[in-house]
Amino acid sequence: MISPFSLEGKTVLVTGSSSGIGRGIAVECSKMGARIILNGRSMQRLEETMTLLSGSGHSIIEADLSNQSEIEKLVQSIPQIDGCVFCAGIPQVCPVKHIKRGELEDIFSVNTLAPIMMTSALAKRKKITKGASLVFIESISGVYVGTRGDVSYNASKAALNGFVKGAALEFASQGIRVNAVNPGLVPTNILHLTNSMFSEEHHADIMLNSYPLKRLGKPEDIAYGVIYLLSDASGWVTGTNLVIDGGYVLN
Ligand SMILES: NC(=O)c1ccc[n+]([C@@H]2O[C@H](COP(=O)([O-])OP(=O)(O)OC[C@H]3O[C@@H](n4cnc5c(N)ncnc54)[C@H](OP(=O)(O)O)[C@@H]3O)[C@@H](O)[C@H]2O)c1
Repeated sequence: MISPFSLEGKTVLVTGSSSGIGRGIAVECSKMGARIILNGRSMQRLEETMTLLSGSGHSIIEADLSNQSEIEKLVQSIPQIDGCVFCAGIPQVCPVKHIKRGELEDIFSVNTLAPIMMTSALAKRKKITKGASLVFIESISGVYVGTRGDVSYNASKAALNGFVKGAALEFASQGIRVNAVNPGLVPTNILHLTNSMFSEEHHADIMLNSYPLKRLGKPEDIAYGVIYLLSDASGWVTGTNLVIDGGYVLN
């Protein structure tokens, strides 16, 4: 009997799969049988991800998603997909009084406008199969908790969360499900920026005192939740948020 959690026979596009959480998602989804379309800006890192995938039939599409014509090109070049994981994202550390319009536009362009415009293009070009699943990687920040100093990041993810709720309703009649995953802290490249601002003791403190399960996340922790949302096991789940955070938001 095939497990309801299997991704066998499904084609899944994973944006931001050249590193970190997106790479983990691509690797774990391939182990569950999915054919993966990798996306990111760095061909070298995408090729590294490719070597980690199980199975066959995977492909790479290099594209800068802050650029609308690259989004259109990507969407045109792919076959119909059964799943899409919108994972590409960037951080931004900036206190409220120093926010610059251009920087705000930069972060919204990647974290918010890109996944929204890509969903629109995928729908317009009929690239999403009936019964497909779209998964948006947000954060606990901005949706469940506020964090000082990265308010633009929080706002970009909160806006995406609003899109997820409405898109879930719009696509429901086609059996297309739309959900969000909200991770807690996972040490990846994205943290280099914040790491340069906080000491190692600060991070150890976060780990021990703020995470009830007493560790930070791993890309696989997030990937296993994404697999559930992409698979038929979550066939009656849409418009929801899956918090994967070692219990952080309980505090
Ligand atoms: N790490 C955490 O603690 C954490 C917590 C909550 C949520 N998240 C979210 O998880 C997602 C992945 O983050 P991560 O921690 O895995 O960071 P990461 O290792 O820095 O990965 C970010 C990914 O996004 C891609 N990307 C960035 N800008 C892009 C653009 N303009 N066009 C196409 N791809 C672009 C990068 O591709 P290239 O390197 O090839 O440019 C890379 O593959 C992000 O949405 C982030 O907000 C992370």
